[in-house]
Amino acid sequence: MYHRGRAAPLHGLSQPANPMPSTPSREALPPGTGLDCYRLIKLIGSGGFSLIYLAEDEDNHDEVAIKEYFPKRFAQRERRGRVAVTEPEKQRSFERGRRLFYQEADILARLDHPNIVRVRNCFLANNTAYLVMDYEPGKNLGRYIKKRNGNLSTNFLMTVFPPLLDALEAIHATNKLHLDIKPSNIHLRPGGNPLLLDFGAVYHLDDVGEKKAQVITPGFSPLEQYYNTGKVGPCTDVYAIGASMRACIEGKPPPSAVERHANDELEPAVDLFSERYPRHLLEAVDWAMRVEATERPQSALELRKALLGELSVPTLSRNGGTHRDEKAMSRG
Ligand SMILES: Nc1ncnc2c1ncn2[C@@H]1O[C@H](COP(=O)(O)OP(=O)(O)O)[C@@H](O)[C@H]1O
Ligand SMILES: [Mg+2]
Repeated sequence: MYHRGRAAPLHGLSQPANPMPSTPSREALPPGTGLDCYRLIKLIGSGGFSLIYLAEDEDNHDEVAIKEYFPKRFAQRERRGRVAVTEPEKQRSFERGRRLFYQEADILARLDHPNIVRVRNCFLANNTAYLVMDYEPGKNLGRYIKKRNGNLSTNFLMTVFPPLLDALEAIHATNKLHLDIKPSNIHLRPGGNPLLLDFGAVYHLDDVGEKKAQVITPGFSPLEQYYNTGKVGPCTDVYAIGASMRACIEGKPPPSAVERHANDELEPAVDLFSERYPRHLLEAVDWAMRVEATERPQSALELRKALLGELSVPTLSRNGGTHRDEKAMSRG
């Protein structure tokens, strides 16, 4: 179903990969393992549901990143690399997750955008699933924020977020939502050109009734993601982008949307950081992070325009509704 062999940049094998996770996983396949037509070089990432390896395509010597479905809570490695559940009762969850993982590959394979990671191949082996992507040198935004303690420059924000919003617009145009945008799912290529990763939580707006367990990341997920009845939409991803921008500024995740809903103590970015950042940028971040979905930008494009100063940010009126300041519209 997936075709390899589209022209892809060849990276020298000497280039540094992402830093190893702090605790090397006992569960990872060892370097040198052959999988399909690939040979694993080393483990470069690890999340709750997967392990990521740098590998080499033995046919053309391209470097690739291979994501292995490995839900840590209920999977274990057995002999000869096989992945199995820790308890028989977890079999259904394991298989369901594997199906969704395959679905992630399918979605990514159809999206062709310079800021969305490119999938080359997908296959089943070792009783689990593998997704083969272009290997992208660079670093993870989550780790970079921690290292720099936030305080990232306007120039940095404007290099990273408008292209990401463009990628998001392309995803939304296919009636899908990412639903897991956060700094650790944003990759920075050398020079800062960003790449949106990890489509493991993707939601199809057109699959009515096929509600799947949603992923929630406190600080980045808006209120509507916490409730089964919550209506998710493009502005759900818009909130997560706003929260990720705020994390780049503040160096920590914002308070969770539930806390904010109960008692919003989050001071507007425009009141806190106006010495270091342009007002329209801070206003755009505050707008994207409104607790009420209807008060946020309703599309990635709207937020992108606000960041670029091409659209004025509506001010919140006393009764909670929004209106645009007509005079401010003249800016840009
Ligand atoms: N194509 C890639 N090239 C380079 N590094 C990658 C690639 N894909 C993922 N990574 C690294 O692995 C980490 C985890 O990837 P991600 O897709 O977010 O998996 P998870 O579902 O486990 O969170 C990323 O933060 C990134 O550092
Ligand atoms: Mg991730």
